[in-house]
Amino acid sequence: MAERVEIFEVGPRDGLQNEARIIPTSEKIALVDLLSEAGFRRIEVASFVSPKWVPQMASSGEVLAGIRRRPGISYAGLVPNMKGYEAARAAGVDEIAVFASASEGFSKANLNATIAESLSRFAPVLAAAEADAIPVRGYVSCVVECPFDGAVDPADTTRVAKALRDAGCYEISLGDTVGRGTPEAVDAMLHAVIKAVPADMLAGHFHDTSGRALENIDVALTHGLRVFDAAVGGLGGCPYAPDAAGNVATEAVLEHLKSAGYETGLDADVISQAAVMAQEMRHV
Ligand code: HMG
Ligand code: MG
Repeated sequence: MAERVEIFEVGPRDGLQNEARIIPTSEKIALVDLLSEAGFRRIEVASFVSPKWVPQMASSGEVLAGIRRRPGISYAGLVPNMKGYEAARAAGVDEIAVFASASEGFSKANLNATIAESLSRFAPVLAAAEADAIPVRGYVSCVVECPFDGAVDPADTTRVAKALRDAGCYEISLGDTVGRGTPEAVDAMLHAVIKAVPADMLAGHFHDTSGRALENIDVALTHGLRVFDAAVGGLGGCPYAPDAAGNVATEAVLEHLKSAGYETGLDADVISQAAVMAQEMRHV
């Protein structure tokens, strides 16, 4: 039987958060409802951050209230602090994600906090989530390169990944936020991180600015990673990472994994319809 690799769909969050046009909530709901038919186990649909920082995500609660929840799918949302946690819980997310950076420059730009400050803000979030039995995923951004600080030392990425794991995150998603990571840099980074956090607790989150995301996924597969984040239609970017392009496209990852002999459990027809819908949302 073919080995299984999971694609974690992040399009409705990472894909849409950077769109300049404020997308009507009904369109976001339609995208999530279509994605729910594709076979994903987890879909990131919301972000409970400051609406002044990321206006596009201000409708997150309404999106969660409006979608048709399919049993067996975990609908996820980003949370930067306790205020976000309370909003996420009220909206009924199935899981949350906290997000830190391996570099100080991006941490300041994205969270208005040092890495240490951000980790200490997450501590009460993790405690509350544990009490409420809400699973917490952890992101590390800028795992190989930072738009402000340049190349990132694998030891820095390892330190932050380990801190999130020790704090109780069930999985750590390693983000090439700028999408300019080379396979060599990703390889060196993973060599280091895997000494502290096992491969089965890691996910790859590659943006595709340089067009090398699929190669980076191949490198991560050789290190034993079996979960990859992707966005339908290759939407996205991060508002606080100048120059960053979208996430690697779900349909491209699906095709790539299929031709390498992996099973994803996803319906390629539904994914391609969702990719068209996602692309249309940005061109209205
Ligand atoms: P701050 O300005 O330092 O926050 O921002 P503050 O605590 O001083 O509060 C300022 C105002 O924000 C107050 O309101 C708070 O109530 C409000 P005011 O009194 O001015 O009316 N506030 C909030 N409102 C709603 N929800 C909240 C919240 N928290 C405070 N949760 C803060 C700090 C963390 C809030 C801000 O920096 C922020 O929202 N940052 C989020 C940036 C973001 O969403 N970036 C994109 C996601 S990360 C990403 O894309 C990378 C990833 O994909 C992985 C990868 O690719 O690497 C995950
Ligand atoms: Mg991202």
